[in-house]
Amino acid sequence: MAFTVAIDGPAAAGKGTLSKALAKHFGFAYLDTGLLYRAVGAKVLLGADAIEAAQALTADDLAAINLRTADVAEAASKVAAIPEVRAALVDFQRAFARRDGGAVLDGRDIGTVICPEAEAKLFVTASPEVRAERRWLELRVSDPDASLADVLEDVRARDERDITRAAAPLKPAEDAETLDTSDLGIEAALAAAIRFVETRMRR
Ligand code: DC
Repeated sequence: MAFTVAIDGPAAAGKGTLSKALAKHFGFAYLDTGLLYRAVGAKVLLGADAIEAAQALTADDLAAINLRTADVAEAASKVAAIPEVRAALVDFQRAFARRDGGAVLDGRDIGTVICPEAEAKLFVTASPEVRAERRWLELRVSDPDASLADVLEDVRARDERDITRAAAPLKPAEDAETLDTSDLGIEAALAAAIRFVETRMRR
């Protein structure tokens, strides 16, 4: 039986960590849909055409190394604004969402566009300052010179682009439960998410 958990929200709100833990808790499959846009962005950085790259995307592309760099994130955010790129990635995501045994998908438009029929929808967010600080603490491990002000600027620029684009902009689905993780640790956020999904399972 299919049961879809749609998790949307801005970058660095804790969606990935939360989604993975939630999938593990319920024994569901997990798809980080940002990786699809990152894989297309990475190909564009290598000279490919964005729409052709999206249409030809394979599972192997998602396993490519270096999809988590700032350059790839920037390229991903740009290709994600192209309607033909988004259209080329829909079927794969829908099939994943409706597979037997349950699925958690995280992204920006899962509850609104990809899977409006999802049984449970969460909009996970946190203030830009909190998200920038989390990203900066991660970045500092590999780049001791990274500046918090620069990271905050990147976070705001990416939010702006994700929220204002015409094609599938970032916004909560009307029936999504908002989870603000600004003042929540991962354990507390996960506990709240589990409780919410359980209420949806009882429906
Ligand atoms: O979640 P992320 O940082 O890996 O996402 C990379 C970019 O892809 C981000 O700018 C938003 C975009 N994206 C999207 O438009 N729709 C999704 N479902 C997932 C990501």
